[in-house]
Parts: sequence; structure tokens; C-alpha cells
Amino acid sequence: MKFFLDTAIVDEIKEGVALGLVDGVTTNPSLIAKSGRDHKEVVLEICELIDGPVSAEVIATDYEGMLAEARELAAWHEQIVVKVPLTEAGLKTVSKLAPEGVRFNVTLCFSAAQALLAAKAGASFISPFVGRWDDIDSRGIDLIPDIVTIYENYGFATEVLVASVRSPLHVSEAAMVGAQIATVPFKILKQMFKHPLTDIGIERFLEDYRKSQA
Ligand code: E4P
Repeated sequence: MKFFLDTAIVDEIKEGVALGLVDGVTTNPSLIAKSGRDHKEVVLEICELIDGPVSAEVIATDYEGMLAEARELAAWHEQIVVKVPLTEAGLKTVSKLAPEGVRFNVTLCFSAAQALLAAKAGASFISPFVGRWDDIDSRGIDLIPDIVTIYENYGFATEVLVASVRSPLHVSEAAMVGAQIATVPFKILKQMFKHPLTDIGIERFLEDYRKSQA
């Protein structure tokens, strides 16, 4: 399974890359705002930090606007994957530009039917948002096996990029059903390392060693 970092904070990306566990980065307008940086400047810096796909999202909501913006974002850097929302205009943009070689990450996906449309349009990645389903008292992760099965049934090359990840459990459940990628906030990546029995085990080993050497 590949891990992307869901952040536009450069220091987090540097730390994640240094761990040797990060295969790409996803950003969105909220994450760019949180970074306090200029959109193009920060995305280009991220492309220099990591050798993998970097998602940059359009702001336009109409087809003509998305088309122009997608072309512009894709021209910034070869690693850029253009993120468009799962709307008619978004998928029309994918259908038009994917054959020209632009890679798309279709975002704000909340159903298997939406994911099917994105794959048919030619998206490279589909981003089902699991945490936002959880927020409204539903099990968002249940969406993932359905999408994986549909893509396998028809041999779609679109990769399932599990998004809106809120816990290590989201990641392991997504991995259990074969999602290719999880995009995780830096905090969750760090949480994935943690287990109280690991800490207790280290403490016990050190204590025994100290005693044996006294
Ligand atoms: C994915 O690409 C999105 O940027 C992200 O996962 C959204 O997560 P949120 O629901 O925590 O904002």
C-alpha cells in the first residue's frame, strides 16, 4: 500500500520523507490556506521534496474554468495530479484532458456509483472521503471494498486513494480490502507507529539489560 501525506505543511512532508514512508502528497484549498503559503509556490516546493504524485486542486466549479485551471496546474510540474471535484463539470474535464496525458485525482467522492463514473471518465485516482461519512454517523470505510470490487470487476486502472482519514484503523481497514493508497494527515502517520505494548516492551528490555549489567 502506498502512503500519501494529506498536507501542505512543508516541514511535515520533509519529516515524512525522511521516514522513508511517503509516496506522494495531496493538497486541497483548505490545506493550502492552513499552510499560509502561495498556492503555486508551496506546490512547487512540495514537488522538489518528494518523487511522486502531488495533487493540486482546482478552484473553478464550471467546465470552462476547470479546463483552463487544470491545464495551468498540470503545466506547473510533471509530478502534479490535478484534483477536481466529483461533479459533471469535473468529470467532463477529466474526459477531455486525460487522453491528452493530464492525470486527475477526483475528489469528494462519497458513493460507489460516483467512483464508477470517475473511473469511466479516465481518472488516475479516486478519493473516497471516509471520515466525512463518519462525521454524519455512517461507516465511511464500508465504501472502500465496494469501489475496489467494482474496479477489479471491470479492470479499471484508476487507483483507490482513501481520503479524509481520521485514524490508523481507517488505514488498516482500507489496506485489508486492497485500496492502493491512503492519504493521511501527518498526525495519523505518527499515530500509526504507536502501541502501548511496544513502549512497555522497550522499557522492560532496557530495565532487564540494566539489571543484568549492574
Ligand atoms: C483528500 O485529498 C482531502 O484533502 C482530505 O483527505 C480531506 O480530509 P478532511 O475530511 O479531513 O478534510
